[in-house]
Amino acid sequence: MAKERIGIMGGTFDPIHLGHIEMAKAAMAEAKLDRVLMIPTGNPPHKKDIAPAEDRWKMLCAACAQEPLLEPSRVELDRSGVIYTVDTLSILKEQYPKADLFYIIGADTLMELEHWRAAAQVLSMCTFLVCPRAWNHTPAQVRDQHKRLCDIGASIIMLTMEPMDASSTAIREDLAHGRPTPALPVPVREYCGVKGLYGMTGRMAQADEWMDKLFAALTVKRFAHTLAVAHTARQLARVHQLDAHKAEVAGLLHDCAKCLPLKDMQDISRLHKLTGDETLIESGNLLHSVTGAYLAAAEYGITDPEILRAIACHTTGKPQMTQLDMAVYLADKIEPTRADYPLLNKVRLLAQLSLEKALLCSMEGTTKYVKKGGKALHPTTLETLAWLHTLPKTK
Ligand SMILES: [Fe+2]
Ligand SMILES: [Fe+2]
Repeated sequence: MAKERIGIMGGTFDPIHLGHIEMAKAAMAEAKLDRVLMIPTGNPPHKKDIAPAEDRWKMLCAACAQEPLLEPSRVELDRSGVIYTVDTLSILKEQYPKADLFYIIGADTLMELEHWRAAAQVLSMCTFLVCPRAWNHTPAQVRDQHKRLCDIGASIIMLTMEPMDASSTAIREDLAHGRPTPALPVPVREYCGVKGLYGMTGRMAQADEWMDKLFAALTVKRFAHTLAVAHTARQLARVHQLDAHKAEVAGLLHDCAKCLPLKDMQDISRLHKLTGDETLIESGNLLHSVTGAYLAAAEYGITDPEILRAIACHTTGKPQMTQLDMAVYLADKIEPTRADYPLLNKVRLLAQLSLEKALLCSMEGTTKYVKKGGKALHPTTLETLAWLHTLPKTK
């Protein structure tokens, strides 16, 4: 059997951005790697002013949630004190004794390689994959260095990929000044805004506690989705002149019960008499709305009835839904990390123009999808659809 080829990408990821993701993916494709371990530094000896390790970790996980072959690794975070590449490689060699290791670096790092701690040992432990563009050196200098290191036995492959023009330093500046950050994945941008990282003004007093709880309660995919829904709900609220803070909080907490086993959700629902609707109680897909509203109040301290209501009706809809309910319902359906589905682009566009029209379009799409799967639509969704048809705004 062929040996597994494991890529390694280290960095402070302060914050992780699309340049990192694209570089890892390009290296993976070019060097035919099976996967890439994304390894954030815990306590970098040369950088002091960086975001807390656990924030960088959560952002990394959220950014890689859509990329199954990019695996965040805590190999450096979980060690105390200064850790050098030679230590990391030794641990990985033990963890993956049968794999070949490929360390992905930029050309500027290649220029410093011989100054690394235990450089000779490092060079013997892995192959280096070098992203060609250097920011601080000329192509001739990089070529010379490549040759010099190969002459002493290093295994170095120069990649041909064109790196994306993105840097964490520039992104931090943009965040501090409230500028757009197209190179930042939406869940990461939302995380920074909610927590107030990199000079942003934090938007939620309870952000630290909530992010820890949500990260522990949800899968990373669901965590990233949750952040993207909060971002989109806030954006829709601003477009339609609703309360952006309420929309954002409801978006953040809408799926807080989603990853509980169905049995636990049913127990919570029955114990606290959340609903008498047996169809809802039997549905793994739908029940997390009412249990989520309960948990949002009980575990996250939400008392605002508008936020709780938006969470409670985000799966089935509800006749007489408010515009805030609609914004949260739609944000769930159209957030930017959502996989494509028929009508997605149409619902996205409509949502900017009319929440009612977008909701009608989205629910009609759901109706078709559910019927195609041979299932019945929940009666409350049917009632919501009938109600939507009566509104002057959907005519
Ligand atoms: Fe949900
Ligand atoms: Fe959701």
